[in-house]
Amino acid sequence: MNPNVVILAAGQGTRMRSDLPKVLHPLGGRPLLQHVYEAAMGLSPLSLTIVYGHGGDRVRCLFAHWEVNWVEQSRQLGTGHAVQQAMPHLGEGMVLILYGDVPLLRTQTLQRLLDSCGEGLGLLTVELDDPGGYGRILRDSQGKVLKIVEEKDATGEEKKIREVNTGILAVPAQHLARWLNRLDNRNAQGEYYLTDIIAMAVEEGVPVNTTGAEADEVAGINDKRQLSELERVYQRRQADSLMARGVTLHDPARFDLRGEIESIGRDVEIDVNVILEGNIRLGDRVKIGPGVVIKDADIADDVEILAHSVLDNVRVGAGCRIGPFARLRPQTELDEQVHIGNFVEIKKSLVGKGSKINHLSYIGDSDIGSGVNVGAGTITCNYDGVNKFRTVIEDGAFIGSDTQLVAPVKIGRDATIGAGSTITRDAPSGKLTLSRGRQVTIEHWQRPQKKT
Ligand code: UD1
Ligand code: CA
Repeated sequence: MNPNVVILAAGQGTRMRSDLPKVLHPLGGRPLLQHVYEAAMGLSPLSLTIVYGHGGDRVRCLFAHWEVNWVEQSRQLGTGHAVQQAMPHLGEGMVLILYGDVPLLRTQTLQRLLDSCGEGLGLLTVELDDPGGYGRILRDSQGKVLKIVEEKDATGEEKKIREVNTGILAVPAQHLARWLNRLDNRNAQGEYYLTDIIAMAVEEGVPVNTTGAEADEVAGINDKRQLSELERVYQRRQADSLMARGVTLHDPARFDLRGEIESIGRDVEIDVNVILEGNIRLGDRVKIGPGVVIKDADIADDVEILAHSVLDNVRVGAGCRIGPFARLRPQTELDEQVHIGNFVEIKKSLVGKGSKINHLSYIGDSDIGSGVNVGAGTITCNYDGVNKFRTVIEDGAFIGSDTQLVAPVKIGRDATIGAGSTITRDAPSGKLTLSRGRQVTIEHWQRPQKKT
């Protein structure tokens, strides 16, 4: 029994005070709407329809690859009116109504709701200590649901009810079509309330079943404070699931995953304030120090990344040691046992097995062999202001400190470059090459004296 899913996302999101449509604000690095979409896709829906409004073109553009029906609701006349716009796109069976700004719902909760419907309708409800603002669930003396009363239409007594409507519900399509046609907007807000269909179901004797949910899962986002609260809930969920997989997190409250961990080994240790983004693979015994930021990376076993290093789109071989304060930029690949030290920036370069670049260097567009030692302060001059060129350093070469390698240039196997050189032509294998002014000492030179 696969449902037709309708996601309501036409709200303006005024309280976000942002030019970005509300459902595009990121949570865990992904737009709110994407979280809802993914939860819905977990149900293999018969159809998926998104009702959009304000800023809708940006939403449609971003998710143009989704196979969904896009329906515009140009004026927000209420949740009932919004669902009505989607009706022409729905097939037979159940219709499940979701919201683009309620991002933490789990597929399994939705499945539970659908399973509870039987011949009738399923309502997802939640008990809140402070039910203010929500539609209240009215029940008779036997506990059967009678209707939903919106806060603005509720009496003082009704406002005391703590069981509220999450807005999420599942309804048989043929009933829904009929009931939506009967809605009116004679209420405090002058809106077509979707919630009015509950009283219609009761009137026709269609059973209304409720399913309970956790408050976090059904919490909506209206402002930046709520966004930040749900971000922490989401991050805590992810942290818990990593710890369940054996990862040591020094503080789960100071860990952010804005993407996906595709694979993770045993005995991985992550210190505080680490941010992982995009697609990440971590091998066994990887140790990540405090304040490290890693995006789109494949990191092999026994790698240690020390404090405050930044890695973006890189591959790191087994046993490498990186940082502290290292920056590895896109298309950098380190073979095994490479050491990259403090204040070293590497871009679009390959570094061979066991090579060391330990202090204050810029290595760009380079192919570095194995067993190479790059001395402190070495710079590859890869850019002439117009074009970029490659630097090749063959196996076993030793680059003295404070060397500039002006590309295109090649340093031969086992070559040694004297410290402080500016290398503009290829340096042959096995030889010492250097370029620097000869050191002289002026014998009878005297320091100037201050005039009296
Ligand atoms: C709605 C429910 C209320 C429930 C609450 C849970 C109704 C009438 N009330 O109230 O019982 O407790 O949600 O949060 O349904 N939307 C559209 N088009 C519209 C109107 C709304 O797409 O014309 C979307 C909004 O983007 C929003 C959602 O529907 O995501 C809820 O709309 P809103 O008007 O905020 O409903 P509430 O007043 O919160
Ligand atoms: Ca409203």
